[in-house]
Amino acid sequence: MREELEKLKGEAREKILKVKDEKSLERVRIEFLGRKQGKITKVLRSIKDMPPEQRPLIGELVNQLKHQIQKELEERKKNLEKEEKEEYIDITLPGKRPLVGRLHPITQTLEEIKRIFLGLGFGVVGGPEVETEYYNFEALNMPRYHPARDEQDSFYLDNNYLLRTQTSPVQIRVMEKKSPPIRIIAPGRCYRRDAVDASHFPMFHQVEGLAVDKKITFSDLKGCLTYFVHRMFGKETRIRFRPSFFPFTEPSAEVDISCIMCRGSGCRVCSGKGWLEILGAGMVDPEVFKKVNYDPEKYQGFAFGMGVERICMLKYGIDDIRLFFQNDLRFLKQF
Ligand code: DAH
Repeated sequence: MREELEKLKGEAREKILKVKDEKSLERVRIEFLGRKQGKITKVLRSIKDMPPEQRPLIGELVNQLKHQIQKELEERKKNLEKEEKEEYIDITLPGKRPLVGRLHPITQTLEEIKRIFLGLGFGVVGGPEVETEYYNFEALNMPRYHPARDEQDSFYLDNNYLLRTQTSPVQIRVMEKKSPPIRIIAPGRCYRRDAVDASHFPMFHQVEGLAVDKKITFSDLKGCLTYFVHRMFGKETRIRFRPSFFPFTEPSAEVDISCIMCRGSGCRVCSGKGWLEILGAGMVDPEVFKKVNYDPEKYQGFAFGMGVERICMLKYGIDDIRLFFQNDLRFLKQF
């Protein structure tokens, strides 16, 4: 009898531990302690058929076993409840990949422009994005009623302040503080009240360039910009200067590069012209030198200004400026 009870004890323990949910645990309870067919219940019931001198001892043993099994059932139930509450971790699932950040394509293009001009001996300077009318227009030979102001409708603040429409005012700020020789570029944000479309955005980036010294000529400007274009777009890229007008340079030029898509034969990107405009440039107008008390007889200089978005769009074949500012990772991840 003892042996049989030991066997039942082992069997019950094994089944209780194997059980994974409360329903199966209840099934185990019924198997052993069920009122009608429970294995232990049956043993208890059979005691009355045993010899009277054995009954007390067997009875006690069976009762002990019954309590033992009840205790184990309860413990298992508690553990199951606890396991259910705890978060279930599936260690076979693939891990979460951390997102690795990268530089915005505009920042990358700016860095590359800076690298090229630093290599040519230019320094990098900054200037305020909130400017006065004097620096943004007046000192650059664009007086109040000059028609050139029409193209640069700005965001005006109080007291003659505005968001700068170009990086050119940094030219004036640098020349006011320093005497020649000067060789700087000034990268930064600019603002214009333009309607948003594929090539216009109210905020954009420019890089201004300025070199002032004795005997600076248009050839220096050409050589400098040709070197820049070759580094930025590749040695096979051709460059041309078209006569143009800017109030703060004389003579002025617009600079084109041979179309990087069709290499000059004419395509959709260059509207069949074979050339793409990339920047404005020219020799610093003597009127500008006078504003900063430089002697125009003694010094000459060249200046240029380029749109960073435009350079970046041409370099990577991007056809909509809005993509830069929508924070769409599908676009940004490609750079
Ligand atoms: N600031 C001009 C613009 O935004 C670009 C420019 C043209 C800058 C000629 C220059 C320059 O320094 O010489 O349209």
